Amino acid sequence: MGREDMSLSTEALLIPPAPEPPRTDTSLLALAWRMRRNQIEAFPRALFEEDTRRPLRRGVLFVMSPQAVRTVLREEADHFSSGALFRRMVRPVWGRGLLTAQGRDWHVQRRAASSAFRPSNMTVLAPFFSNAAGRAVERWISAPGRAIDMHAEMARITFDVILDAMLSGAADFDRATLSGTLARMFARVNRVPITGLFLPDRYHQGRASVRPPERDGVLAIMRSMIAKRREGEPVSDLLDLLLQARDPETGDAFDDDLLADNLLGFIMAGHDTTTLALTWALFLAASHTPTMAALRNEVEAVAGGREIQAEHISRLVFTRQVISEAMRLYPPAFLLTRVAGRDTQVAGERVKAGERVNIPIYAIHRRSAAFANPFAFDPGRFDPSHQQPERDSYLPFGAGPRICLGASFAMAEAVTVLATVVRAVRLELLAPDKVWPVAQVSLRPRGGLSMNVFRR
Ligand code: HEM
Repeated sequence: MGREDMSLSTEALLIPPAPEPPRTDTSLLALAWRMRRNQIEAFPRALFEEDTRRPLRRGVLFVMSPQAVRTVLREEADHFSSGALFRRMVRPVWGRGLLTAQGRDWHVQRRAASSAFRPSNMTVLAPFFSNAAGRAVERWISAPGRAIDMHAEMARITFDVILDAMLSGAADFDRATLSGTLARMFARVNRVPITGLFLPDRYHQGRASVRPPERDGVLAIMRSMIAKRREGEPVSDLLDLLLQARDPETGDAFDDDLLADNLLGFIMAGHDTTTLALTWALFLAASHTPTMAALRNEVEAVAGGREIQAEHISRLVFTRQVISEAMRLYPPAFLLTRVAGRDTQVAGERVKAGERVNIPIYAIHRRSAAFANPFAFDPGRFDPSHQQPERDSYLPFGAGPRICLGASFAMAEAVTVLATVVRAVRLELLAPDKVWPVAQVSLRPRGGLSMNVFRR
């Protein structure tokens, strides 16, 4: 198929649902109310237009321009940590694992884990992605005429993937029970203590974290899986890759406790985010006939009717563009926060040690300085034969040393699942006017995403 077929004409552009950014002169009370209900509804217009901004005179500094983002996430990364409040919140899941680790400990873990998450390794996992998506399609087709919540369905697929790809052979526990337990545990962890928003970050240093009652049981399952796998034959999955992972400099491997902490952490970091990237991509594709047609043409040209395999993933170029554009408009991680470790400057703004700096990815992705027609859906922006968005103006996976470890995993999974679904079924959005992005822990469709599904 020719490249021209993949680009969409301007008249066909879709403007998907998004709040109108409020003017900064909206009253503080109104902003606070919006913030409580839905953070992105409270992002003032200035965040979409200016380089940096302090919405309150002595409050948090928001940084938006590529140069300001670069200073915080790359050049001065050693002096901007995720902060004590963040560590306090995620420690109950990650324990001593990657997301809470700092300094040398973080370096050693990151280097070892990166050797497992290399893009070339992710192709080994393609069958897990295809199988989980294939099972979901069978489920939908076998019960036709029923409205389906695609957000819940995508969550089920990505959870199946993570269990199959990390813990294959984990037949001795009940999936539904484990998934319910994990969901309860993550919800507890994700509840931001209200003090966190008002107290200085140093208040949280050394303070205890919530201790979810589910944690010990879940970790025991992870540890028993690891022990079993150390004794058994290699299986070519993510756990195997992690068992073999070594820090290339020191040769250090993960010990079993640290590996269990990280497995749990990877589930938390990867499950909800990948689910949402897929949910929004499906919503956009189902809302825009030319995109859906171009997706199906591509999948059929690349893989015919066969299961999506490792060798297809890199050739599903337009499918990847749709996912990239979905994450531009609806970035699952809509806001990153950092705390300055010393007095410094960002784009000419003074930042004192202990002050919080926010990176509002949602607003950054809708800056007209970086994207033409920024509120419109146009996967053509990510056509690899065109100029790509400026570095640090597109950050679905963050940037710098702490950039998402699982980005290649997530993209390979999302491409395989989206391709499998659009080829197999016809999707009809129910109540498209009700779809609305709401920023809680991540950016999700309020009330789910209801669709009718028909065999093609
Ligand atoms: C579309 C899906 C995903 C999105 C949008 C996403 C987004 C992000 C972002 C924005 C960060 C940076 C956080 C910061 O700088 O404060 C991050 C970090 C991280 N992500 Fe992801 N992620 C996704 C999938 C995954 C998956 C599938 C895994 C693992 C299987 C994963 C593991 C991690 C880890 C371990 C980190 C921390 C890295 C470090 O601190 O060194 N992510 N992710």
